[in-house]
Amino acid sequence: MPEGSPAAAWRRFLAERDQHAVEEMDKPDCDPAALARTYAQFPLINSVVSRWHSTYTEYIRPLLSPNQNTTLLDIGCGGGDIAIALARWAARDRMQLSITAIDPDARAIAFAQAHASRQGGVTHASPGMVFRRAHSSELVREGAMFDVVISNHILHHLSAEEFAGLLADSEQLARQGVVHSDIARSRLGYALFSAGTLPFFPGSFIRRDGLTSIRRSYTAAEMRAVVPPIWRVKSARPYRNLLLYSPAWQHA
Ligand SMILES: C[S@@+](CC[C@H](N)C(=O)[O-])C[C@H]1O[C@@H](n2cnc3c(N)ncnc32)[C@H](O)[C@@H]1O
Repeated sequence: MPEGSPAAAWRRFLAERDQHAVEEMDKPDCDPAALARTYAQFPLINSVVSRWHSTYTEYIRPLLSPNQNTTLLDIGCGGGDIAIALARWAARDRMQLSITAIDPDARAIAFAQAHASRQGGVTHASPGMVFRRAHSSELVREGAMFDVVISNHILHHLSAEEFAGLLADSEQLARQGVVHSDIARSRLGYALFSAGTLPFFPGSFIRRDGLTSIRRSYTAAEMRAVVPPIWRVKSARPYRNLLLYSPAWQHA
């Protein structure tokens, strides 16, 4: 196949992580109105691409009890939609779950707190729901521990050093298990996301940052190559990597 042919170009496209691409929302001076719209649209986008209900059913619900409280930490909560969704599902299943959702980005926590009273049912302000401006390393320094630690869509944002730090923090913070869920880079996923979001999300960073996120994301094989052996990488649909850890595996 000629080097310059469209087929060869397609094969090269996304062949490697683009670690230098920068998401708009990661820029401290990005447009605040577009950022707020992006946080507001995360629930919709996450319900389609992140499929947290299956992750909750498989990994979190088995740890919950109707009689005893379970604690969960959401690291890098953004606008807080995954934390809220988990609280709703647990409440619907009549399970006790307290959630702490953290993000060092003041804009994220301000958004989460501003939306405290706008939704019905479980809200950002419900008992057992805490939003806090903090980095995971601060909670480690405080000696905090949670039964379950999760994150969504943060792994691809991080430098190698930040990535290693997040895994070390998660190991310290979790009593029972950790689930970091993120995008798995693929050409088909990129094409589908690009086409599926084209007419939607005007005035937000969803489409542009989503495509940048896919370019920055790991394949399952790349992630396996960089995580300590005690961590497991599982492929999930659609185009997801679940990075899993259990303290029990230390002793297996
Ligand atoms: C793209 S946002 C993800 C938002 C949300 N989880 C979602 O899926 O809608 C990634 C967030 O992770 C936060 N973050 C990255 N590393 C972190 C860490 N070690 N501790 C806490 N937050 C972190 C960043 O500040 C950023 O707001």
